[in-house]
Amino acid sequence: MSGRIAIAGKGGVGKSTIAALLVRALHERTGKVVMAVDADPNSNLGEKLGVRVERTIGDLREDLLRKADEVPVGQSKQDFVLYQMQLALVEGSSFDLLTMGRPEGPGCYCFINNILRTFIDLAMDRYDHVVIDNEAGMEHLSRRTTKRMDAFLVIADETKVGVETAVRIIKLAREMGIEIGRPTLVLNKVKGYVHSSVKDIVQASPFEHVLVLPFDRDVERASIKGRSVMELADASQLYQKVKALASEL
Ligand SMILES: Nc1ncnc2c1ncn2[C@@H]1O[C@H](COP(=O)(O)OP(=O)(O)OP(=O)(O)O)[C@@H](O)[C@H]1O
Ligand SMILES: [Mg+2]
Repeated sequence: MSGRIAIAGKGGVGKSTIAALLVRALHERTGKVVMAVDADPNSNLGEKLGVRVERTIGDLREDLLRKADEVPVGQSKQDFVLYQMQLALVEGSSFDLLTMGRPEGPGCYCFINNILRTFIDLAMDRYDHVVIDNEAGMEHLSRRTTKRMDAFLVIADETKVGVETAVRIIKLAREMGIEIGRPTLVLNKVKGYVHSSVKDIVQASPFEHVLVLPFDRDVERASIKGRSVMELADASQLYQKVKALASEL
């Protein structure tokens, strides 16, 4: 079964951090290459995973528009585009990363976007687990790259607004007809215990599964230096909890 795990939430709550740690944990658990998709135009999942991203799908789309007449003889336009997309994939030993980059600008993109969707669906079917790091807010759901998610993790900080945003995201996703299996609210960066007023809001929310992740000083330090979270100590409480989540997914 392919496990498509989408990560959403308000800005700065830790979506990319948790996405990267989850990629690491899923690989450790299964021994298989995990696909990571950075669907945030302000891409930084590569940094969290510790790899350089030279080309995004956005760059590729612009290039393809310009090179539409340069299809090599004997190759269909679709095969040419699919081949070019393969080049935008950063291949690592534990994960492959696809960075979407900026959304479309002016111009006619229908053909390319349709092939893009085909490519992403094909690519997603090749992996047991795909982790999609989405941009903050909810607009991206309307530009969805896929209609089905096996798990939907909505990250929130320990605030009223954070949890309320998470509830809005889940409602919108359902309204858009996105199939969501098991939406989970993840309260991240919690220092000590969850405040009782936030607990009340969570209890009144439609989330059946709630996971609390602790604030981690090492993650904060790594972020200040622009370092990846792949070297975070295995024994860290945060990583142990992400590993437990990976085993449930
Ligand atoms: N559990 C944690 N403990 C400590 N710091 C954390 C934790 N999770 C995330 N952070 C820090 O919070 C900041 C925001 O994290 P991150 O970039 O992952 O959030 P995001 O939701 O992806 O942000 P954006 O909306 O900008 O994409 C970073 O400095 C990161 O290191
Ligand atoms: Mg992010």
